[in-house]
Amino acid sequence: MKFQFLLPTKVVMEPGLRERTGEHLRELGLARVLIVTDAGVKAAGLLTGIYASLDASGIAFEEISDVKANPRSEDINRTAQALRGRGIDGLLAIGGGSAMDAAKALSVLLTHDGRIEDYEGSFKLTHGVLPIVAIPTTAGTGSEVTCFSVITDTARHFKMNLLDYRIGPVLALLDSNITATLPPSIAAATGMDALTHAIEAYTCRVSNPISDGLALHAIRLISQHLKAAVQEPDNLEAREQMLVASLIAGMAFGNADVGSVHCISEAIGGMYDTPHGVGNAIFLPFVFGHNIDADLLRHAQVAYALGIDPSLAPASAAQAAVEYLFQMSKALGIPRFADVKGVREEDFLTIADKSKKNFSDPSNAKAMTVETYHAIIVAAYRFAG
Ligand SMILES: [Fe+2]
Repeated sequence: MKFQFLLPTKVVMEPGLRERTGEHLRELGLARVLIVTDAGVKAAGLLTGIYASLDASGIAFEEISDVKANPRSEDINRTAQALRGRGIDGLLAIGGGSAMDAAKALSVLLTHDGRIEDYEGSFKLTHGVLPIVAIPTTAGTGSEVTCFSVITDTARHFKMNLLDYRIGPVLALLDSNITATLPPSIAAATGMDALTHAIEAYTCRVSNPISDGLALHAIRLISQHLKAAVQEPDNLEAREQMLVASLIAGMAFGNADVGSVHCISEAIGGMYDTPHGVGNAIFLPFVFGHNIDADLLRHAQVAYALGIDPSLAPASAAQAAVEYLFQMSKALGIPRFADVKGVREEDFLTIADKSKKNFSDPSNAKAMTVETYHAIIVAAYRFAG
């Protein structure tokens, strides 16, 4: 057995924690931070308590509050150019995966020359970056504990992956009060992203015993709480459990990998701006079903963790999990692939080609080809649901 497991992030969870952000930043020795967030978070009033806390702790800050879903390389490069030399000593990301991924990319460019495209791939950094503190506002991405950043290269319409242990946040502050404001459609999409992280981490070819334990526990928590977190927005217990589950799933895939669901979802996200979690939810049952025979017992273990009858034999349980995943997406209001904005059949070969080129393609449970990706994409498009 040979593996590495790294978690660079201290995790603190407490309802209302964001109102003590300043104390935590001061403990890290930070004096001037860059807040990285999006317009939705700002409009929801989630920053108010954070500003007051920073002021009370004597921490100066600048702010970028226009991070878009699927952050773009040209925006990152332009923003970093304007912020270099301003004495910023840390980043405070408040939002979902896009804000956290943008903060990671900006932290790279505030400490390294060039453009973000220069750092695509694994371990391209030459030295440390500015410390990142993350306050997740969705329960899905797990980016608060991962060392990945996904940025859309606008010239290639391609989602780039940057991996380096240095870009993992040093501190994650989990405030379950924040997720109370999450709209149901976002809770659904981000929750399915978390479920995909956990399932792909467990079934991929590069899992390890620690990521396995985390992934299975995340699957159990998500199967127990996701529907309630979406369908009963006032169910704070369910929302809190999803916030923990998405973090645990992030620890799992951050130390294993994801697989072909993410490869396809990132390809369509780069082309159509499809929300990441929606893309994952659409393709998860198709890829899961396709992968079963590569490792039947692991897929059966996923099924049992989802709550499928443990008396079912592995092959029947794994097939039941495919149906479970279809039904889960339907219950959460995830659209069918054919109903996703902008989707055109003539793009399917390009999507298959981009999926095959994805960083995580070699990690998928079953070896994939452009042809098998294409077949899955066509099947999803024709799925009547
Ligand atoms: Fe994801």
